[in-house]
Amino acid sequence: MRIALYNPDGAAQFWIDGLHAVWPEAEVALWSPGSPAADFAIAWAPPQAFFDEQPGLQAVFNLGAGVDALMRLRIPPQTQVVRLEDAGMAVQMAEYVCHAVLRHFRGLDAYEADARAGRWRKQDVVVRSDFPVGVMGLGVLGTRVAQALRGFEFPVNAWSRQSKVLADVRGFAGAEQLDAFLAASKVLVCLLPLTVDTQNILDHRSLSKLQQGGYVINVARGAHLVDADLLALLDSGHLAGATLDVFRTEPLPSEHPFWGHPQIHITPHISARTLDAESLAQIIGKLQALLRGQPVDGVVHRDRGY
Ligand code: NAP
Ligand code: GLV
Repeated sequence: MRIALYNPDGAAQFWIDGLHAVWPEAEVALWSPGSPAADFAIAWAPPQAFFDEQPGLQAVFNLGAGVDALMRLRIPPQTQVVRLEDAGMAVQMAEYVCHAVLRHFRGLDAYEADARAGRWRKQDVVVRSDFPVGVMGLGVLGTRVAQALRGFEFPVNAWSRQSKVLADVRGFAGAEQLDAFLAASKVLVCLLPLTVDTQNILDHRSLSKLQQGGYVINVARGAHLVDADLLALLDSGHLAGATLDVFRTEPLPSEHPFWGHPQIHITPHISARTLDAESLAQIIGKLQALLRGQPVDGVVHRDRGY
């Protein structure tokens, strides 16, 4: 069995050693142009040439939850695309989103500015029932985030493609319920996969449907958000702020107006990091199942793009 690695987050030797511990006879190597064709691949954002040189590839394990970078490529028809599911990312995403929501809800930015200015001043109390949070995408990560927000007793709405039932969460599904979902939400958390249906979904039309004083948290992909529309709605006062972890161009170019914007918090695509040990363990489990001819979770539906 030959396994090709491309762009593993940590050291390649960690992956080679970890795979050899289970399959000592396997040939595991970092891919470079001209490498021998592999049976399986473990990769993050490979180039087209990677697939062009692997005509017999049985499966590619994506080193992340989102497969949008892979879905842009021509992948051999028989190759199963398998993504990471949670693998330690869900708890990180819950931490990040709850932190952003709580910072805004409790007015912590204003307290920080006051503390720097040596000013003792209490903000008005915000009533929790006036602070409904809408989670777009109720998959592996969105579900964990919605549950964590419920732990802080926020009213939580969730929007998915097909209707879902989650305790104490108001569910909305499909394009026909999108506007009702937005109108019921003040804070919007985007945890959708990036597909043809979801790119640019956070535009002027949808963001203006959020309740007055809305707040946007994008932790999915930069191309969900129309940057100029967010800026216009912040300027108009309809939106109060945003926390953004992902951007159309990463790293965010130095001249981008998001940098230094007083109402925008920026982080460099770190809301949920790929963790080596968890990812290796999950991929080993899935590869063992595939080799036994058993079905595995997390196989991407190529027709719907996630
Ligand atoms: P997932 O389990 O596949 O969940 C995707 C959710 O989105 C599902 O609930 C799905 O609905 C919903 N959805 C998809 N297309 C839709 C549409 N057109 N309309 C309404 N709902 C739609 O994915 P996940 O593991 O939670 O990950 C979500 C995304 O997070 C990834 O794709 C990735 O881009 C992003 N991510 C970012 C980071 C970071 O560090 N910033 C880290 C990890 C992941 P159904 O349930 O009906 O299928
Ligand atoms: C990171 O962005 C991922 O998709 O896992």
